[in-house]
This record gives sequence, C-alpha cells and structure tokens, in this order.
Amino acid sequence: MAFRLAIAAENCYDAARMALKVGRRDVLLGGLGMLAVTGYARAQDDPAAARPKTGDLLVRDGDDGRKPLTPQDIAENAKPVASWAMDPATGVVRSGSRFNRLMVGRLGDVFAFTAICTHDGCDVTDWLADEHMLSCPCHYSKFDPKDGGRVKDGPAPRALPQLPLAVTDGKLVVAAVFTSKVGFESQ
Ligand code: FES
Repeated sequence: MAFRLAIAAENCYDAARMALKVGRRDVLLGGLGMLAVTGYARAQDDPAAARPKTGDLLVRDGDDGRKPLTPQDIAENAKPVASWAMDPATGVVRSGSRFNRLMVGRLGDVFAFTAICTHDGCDVTDWLADEHMLSCPCHYSKFDPKDGGRVKDGPAPRALPQLPLAVTDGKLVVAAVFTSKVGFESQ
C-alpha cells in the first residue's frame, strides 16, 4: 500500500511537470492540472521529498545516526550502498520519496545513481562484480556506471540518471542535481 501511495504521489509530481509544460504553450490549466500543480508545490515544500540538492551529504539507508558517508565507506567493486541525500543544515534525510533513493558504489571514483530503474521503476539493487555493472532484478537490465549509467543490456529505454559527487572535508557531497529526470517508462 505504501509503495502504491508513493507511486501515486510521484505520478502527481510528474503530472504537474507536464501541466507546467503545457502551460508554457499558453493552454489554460484545467482542474486536474491545478490539482497536480498543488501536489507538485507540496512535494517541493517538503524537504524530505525534494530531490537531492547541491551540497547535500549522503547517509546510508537505515542509519538512524545519520553519519555522513565518506569515500572510505564505499568499497571498490562491492555491491553499491543504498543511500539518501541529507540536508547538511537541517539534518533532514530526503527519504520522503522513493525516487530519491541512491545506489552509491566505487570503481576507482565513487559514483551515485538513482535506484529507480528507467524501465518499470523497480529498485536497481544488484551488482555484477565480474562485469562492473548495476543490474535490475526485475527484467535484468544492466547499467554501466563507468559510462554514465548507459544501458548495456535489457529492456530499459535510457540510462540511469546519475547524481554527480564531490568530496568536501572528507565527506561525500552532492556536486550537482541528477543528470536527467528520475522516473520510468510506464509512468
Ligand atoms: S524494471 Fe528494471 S528492467 Fe524492468
């Protein structure tokens, strides 16, 4: 049930984005559009649901102590760590939307990608150590972190959005917003 509610909220967010695009073409927003815009505004108002922002820290999923991740916490060619961004000023963890879930791994440099598969929205939780690839357990799409998350196999229609990282004061920080829209084909 919680999963379905999360998807509904995210669909509302995306509907709002579409409504705003239509608005730019000088077409009046209807009642549904206004509702979607309201949902979009709420999502932006909720810091826990807002997308990761430049300067955010990263914390491990399930870490109630909210200890910021460092490069040393991420092992080379190991299964990526499920993580969230955290506002460094308020300590708010941006786990209010499943679309903010990250997979943080290391192949030389540390990388972070959305966990949301671009095919049908499953969590991309598998790691193929022999191939150095992220893999989706639902329909086995493979994504190459060394090539910007590009699809190397399976039905996924586009690359996994990447979250650029930097290191500040020894901690991993978000260096820029996602490289493309987080979401999936069948939304
Ligand atoms: S949902 Fe990931 S490959 Fe289908």
